[in-house]
Amino acid sequence: MSNGYSKDLERWMPRLIAVWRASRGKGDGPEGRLTPQEVKEVGAGVRQLSMGLTRERQLAGARYMDDPKLLGAYLLFYWPVSYAQARQVLGELPNRPRQVLDLGSGPGPVAFAALDAGGKEVTAADRSKAALNLARALATEAGEALATREWDPTKKAAVLPEGQYDLITMGHVINELYGTGDSATTPRAALLEAALAKVKRGGSLLVMEPALRETSRGLLHVRDAMVARGYAVRAPCMYRGACPALVKETDWCHAERPWPMPRVVEELARAASLHKEALKMSYLVLAPKGEEWPEPPPGRLFRIVSEPLEGKGRHRYIGCGPEGRVGLAMQERHRNEKNERFLQLHRGDVIAVTETEPKGDGLALSDVSEVRMVAPAGKGVPPPPPKEDAPTNPGTSPSPGAPS
Ligand SMILES: C[S@@+](CC[C@H](N)C(=O)[O-])C[C@H]1O[C@@H](n2cnc3c(N)ncnc32)[C@H](O)[C@@H]1O
Repeated sequence: MSNGYSKDLERWMPRLIAVWRASRGKGDGPEGRLTPQEVKEVGAGVRQLSMGLTRERQLAGARYMDDPKLLGAYLLFYWPVSYAQARQVLGELPNRPRQVLDLGSGPGPVAFAALDAGGKEVTAADRSKAALNLARALATEAGEALATREWDPTKKAAVLPEGQYDLITMGHVINELYGTGDSATTPRAALLEAALAKVKRGGSLLVMEPALRETSRGLLHVRDAMVARGYAVRAPCMYRGACPALVKETDWCHAERPWPMPRVVEELARAASLHKEALKMSYLVLAPKGEEWPEPPPGRLFRIVSEPLEGKGRHRYIGCGPEGRVGLAMQERHRNEKNERFLQLHRGDVIAVTETEPKGDGLALSDVSEVRMVAPAGKGVPPPPPKEDAPTNPGTSPSPGAPS
């Protein structure tokens, strides 16, 4: 598992099980694993949650965290998933956060991911008292200091917890706020803007959403609203204009990372008849007002935003970079040592390419092209090397092809 968090997650699994059993008043059972009866019981809750949050979506925005069966299923199945997703994305932040606020925390997977990634003072905020109780129980079990706060942004006079933070996180929550459809974009963007006002200079707001077409596109609309309001995106976008994935109704943008999942999660997926073999999420990391977009390193850069696409005798992906979203293709027969990296790219990798030719609606690489890995998926794009004789504050110039 990348980013070295798999051992951390393995340590969490017995704690999650112990806290779940204690919450039901049934403290005993085999340590670190579920009995077949427990797998069956929790698996039924996982199935219900999965249908309600991803298929029919009737649970989105409902108070499912206050139902002990569904909260238990969330804790044992979705908690490890969100934790792993958050550790992946936290690996891309330019700075290690110390003070963290996790909004819509539920039982705290993202909050604990932030603590394990170096956070020192972490506050988890949610409207569900039951979920916050579990987060506190987990903190006790793990010997961690976690503050909790009740918070509901849809209530009149809702206020964000006081303080300034290095990082504010919102894991799988904004899709549950302010209803569905286009009308949700404006209040969601306003909430993000209010959160960003509490982010310190150099800090970040991280928003993660399910990798479903609807929720991912919802996030892209919010991204565009934030970019239009002058906010810079730290990751994953390098394109500074309106998101090109929104042009076609059928497109969306998500990350995918390999994930050898913990055994309990695997058992629950099987019991719930869910196919889960990789981590998939959509995410956005925003900088507070007044900060510039990160200056990319030199080269013609693209982030791979598709899986490898089928093609006879050629390799093809969709890339998205400072010049927008483009198809990238290379014939197998053009493979050589300068470009063979192109044959094994993963969604999320950032590459630099040279010597491309426009072809169809994309770019073709050939035997004179070079392909260089700039940042593998899950790693932040490095800044450009310092220029000799550079002025002390060079500012930022628009990337080639980016709208000014
Ligand atoms: C899918 S869970 C995400 C939990 C956790 N952040 C994660 O990433 O796994 C969505 C969370 O949003 C919370 N939520 C939904 N509507 C809310 C609201 N109006 N105010 C505060 N929290 C809300 C729910 O209580 C739930 O804990």
